[in-house]
Amino acid sequence: MSQTILIESNEDLRKIFSINLNTFVGTDVIHRKNADDAIDLLKILPQISLIITEVKSGSEETALKLHHFIKNEGLSTSLIIMGECKQLAHEVICLKEPVSWEILIKQAAHALGVSLQDSLQKIRPDYIPVGVHYFYDIQKTPCDVYIRIKKGPHEFQFVKRIHSKDVFEKADIIKYEQQGLKEFYIAKDYVQYFTTFVTNNIVQKLEREDISLEDRILTTANAHEIVRENILAVGFEESTIELSHASINSMVKSVKNSPQVAQLLKFLFTNKISYAYQHCHMLALMCHYVLSKQSWYRPEHLETLSFVSFFADATLKSNIQMKMTSMRDLAESGLTDEEKRQVLTHAKDAVDILSTNPEANEYIKTVLLQSHGKLDGIGLEDNPGEDLHPLSKVFIVADAFVKVLLNPNLPSAKKDILELLSVRFTNPSYLKILKALEQKFD
Ligand SMILES: [Fe+2]
Repeated sequence: MSQTILIESNEDLRKIFSINLNTFVGTDVIHRKNADDAIDLLKILPQISLIITEVKSGSEETALKLHHFIKNEGLSTSLIIMGECKQLAHEVICLKEPVSWEILIKQAAHALGVSLQDSLQKIRPDYIPVGVHYFYDIQKTPCDVYIRIKKGPHEFQFVKRIHSKDVFEKADIIKYEQQGLKEFYIAKDYVQYFTTFVTNNIVQKLEREDISLEDRILTTANAHEIVRENILAVGFEESTIELSHASINSMVKSVKNSPQVAQLLKFLFTNKISYAYQHCHMLALMCHYVLSKQSWYRPEHLETLSFVSFFADATLKSNIQMKMTSMRDLAESGLTDEEKRQVLTHAKDAVDILSTNPEANEYIKTVLLQSHGKLDGIGLEDNPGEDLHPLSKVFIVADAFVKVLLNPNLPSAKKDILELLSVRFTNPSYLKILKALEQKFD
């Protein structure tokens, strides 16, 4: 690939020119601030094919200086000047201002001997959007990353924002978000490569012992979102299975070392954590509290219930759907018939989806199927019966507790929540679980 030096002080133009030169002319663009910087580079890389420059950079006669250097050194580097330069007008291409990128690439293609017609047809990569949160837990990417800029009413263009060798921090990504950016773009051919890279990085992070509890929760929350998106988009792939495995282990770890409930809730609410993960994490924690009071408790019970918490609402698409606890809720929800149907069958649907995850054992599938009090996984039972699996009962009560806790319109004191739940659950084993929750845990 040829190399081109671009000297353009306007940041937006610099990006637009660069991406288009790269895309349509197939040249690698190197930015330099002024003639001196460019000359320093030319001394090391005299094979640079083209220089595109402003007439002046500040008070420096950039175009003139570069022209003299090229001539004196006998270089074959072409020069394109953006703007009027009377002294050179007879021997160098000077583009009229304002310079459009279409004109610029035409001249650049000409200078580099590239047939623009060919490249326009050949090099028009498809870009795929990737949520900004995919960049939270990585410090570099394995490929270039773009943003999409609106060029006209129906036209967009892609501008390279992160180069494959750039190093960045989460704070840098948050800054993009604060400016309203929701998605970056990646060339179609690299998407699989990119998601595998992100997954591997998150798995490695979650498996580390030395990360803080806060970082662990935030990373697990991010992983939860990525897993949910992947399942809805393509089902379980190997990388998704691996990521969910690491996430569930990490969640179990943080649940066992959990701070007090009030403190944890404050953390979950003040950080950018989805309702889905707030619910999932608190649910695993409540299951842990209840289980720890049971004489029959064994560590694998917590693993089973954490697994179920992680995937319980995997097929639901909105927070409103996830908040439904009863048929009455559903009737008053304002959801469409299709959305209601998704809620009614989500326990069964989640089990169906898990059929392709070899880590989902029969216990997990049973509890998940019964997670709304129905043996067949269809419907929402207000007051579930004694015929359910003991672990399902723990899960159902913990789920009901967390849904009240996370609802700002309902009481948040434990005593009041338990009172509400004791009206709903009347069967003896459920009352026993509520009793366990009465015991001190925070
Ligand atoms: Fe559910």
